[in-house]
Amino acid sequence: MSERVIPLVDLRAGARAITLPTTPARANGLLADTRGRPLRDLRISVTDRCNFRCSYCMPKEVFDKDHVYLPQAALLSFEEITRLARLFLGHGVRKIRLTGGEPLLRKNLEVLVAQLSALRTEDGVAPDITLTTNGSLLHRKARALKDAGLQRVTVSLDGLDDRVFRSMNDVDFPVAQVLEGIAAARAAGLGPIKVNMVVKRGTNEHEIGPMARHFRGSGVVLRFIEYMDVGATNGWRMDEVLPSAEVVRLIQREFPLVALEPGAPGETAERWGYADAAGRFDPALGEIGVISSVTQAFCHDCNRARLSTEGHLYLCLFAAQGHDLRSLLRAGADDAQISAAIAAVWGARSDRYSELRGTQAAPARQRVEMSYIGG
Ligand code: GTP
Ligand code: 5AD
Ligand code: SF4
Ligand code: SF4
Repeated sequence: MSERVIPLVDLRAGARAITLPTTPARANGLLADTRGRPLRDLRISVTDRCNFRCSYCMPKEVFDKDHVYLPQAALLSFEEITRLARLFLGHGVRKIRLTGGEPLLRKNLEVLVAQLSALRTEDGVAPDITLTTNGSLLHRKARALKDAGLQRVTVSLDGLDDRVFRSMNDVDFPVAQVLEGIAAARAAGLGPIKVNMVVKRGTNEHEIGPMARHFRGSGVVLRFIEYMDVGATNGWRMDEVLPSAEVVRLIQREFPLVALEPGAPGETAERWGYADAAGRFDPALGEIGVISSVTQAFCHDCNRARLSTEGHLYLCLFAAQGHDLRSLLRAGADDAQISAAIAAVWGARSDRYSELRGTQAAPARQRVEMSYIGG
């Protein structure tokens, strides 16, 4: 086995201060970055903690008992999050995704969901509010989240075999409880439910078939994610990436698939539908998705902004630094000033890491951890 160097770095303090623009422009939902990309999707991390230790995200050797998490006072309060979310909606955001760490570890999360669901987009409609979870607490929380206004959930699940799953979450967590969480989400009406499976060659590729068989025709959309080089701690290697094209080929050997149109501009997943005997998409059998950040970058229409647990705005999953919105909030800036700051930061955005990966133009810098800014 080759040796892996896992650097111990803490990038959390490294946020850039935001200089307030002198002429606050009015938000009109038409904001675009330097590559003409609008801002549509706001992903809010509500905690940097997780009860799992997936090796591709929070490896045990790094996130051990000595790891220092953010203190309570550093976290944005629900009121601060809601205020920022309202200002982001003014700039064209239509979808809000709560992430972590594990978002269900944040106490009273349903209170935040209720506050967010009272907001409206620029067009006066309710934003799409969703959540990415490891599913471990979903059986307890699904009903309250639905009642608070959550529309749907995405559950991470890397395999059905209990032994494989326990070893991938690295805390010996049983798969049955996650499946129970998915059932509870379905019973609560938190759909369409998506299941995200990170595929690592040599670790869980043999779970692709069983996962496809299990979720085909169930109404759950299963999505396969290429293992990514996020953060600085997971010891990523290209030879552990299983290209999505191989995943599709593998499933096609058992079940015919047809390519489907994208659901929305800037979507991460490429959609494939299960076909009927005549070779046509059969909605009753459902669809799968592949998210191919490594082999087929989708930066050209990336409309996602990320707000870290402590209120730093990140423009890319692979960014080294965020922009410090919390300081503005806590220094007493008014809505127009914060809104103008968001516009200035997004307006200057040029990030497209996945497109540049492996080329000379790729920024050679430390990257923030995914458990800190969210998936
Ligand atoms: P839907 O609204 O359900 O379509 O969700 P989504 O695809 O926007 O979000 P989700 O959190 O389900 O994203 C799935 C996975 O895609 C994440 O867990 C990440 O692994 C990856 N991903 C999401 N956004 C980005 C991104 O902007 N860049 C890259 N490289 N990967 C991303
Ligand atoms: N590569 C791909 N996906 C990842 N996720 C976390 N780390 C990685 C990585 N290195 C995914 C999780 C979850 C979401 C939060 O991000 O599986 O679905
Ligand atoms: Fe936790 Fe999700 Fe990261 Fe796994 S991938 S350690 S469940 S935040
Ligand atoms: Fe967007 Fe960065 Fe992901 Fe590209 S790598 S899709 S710019 S978040």
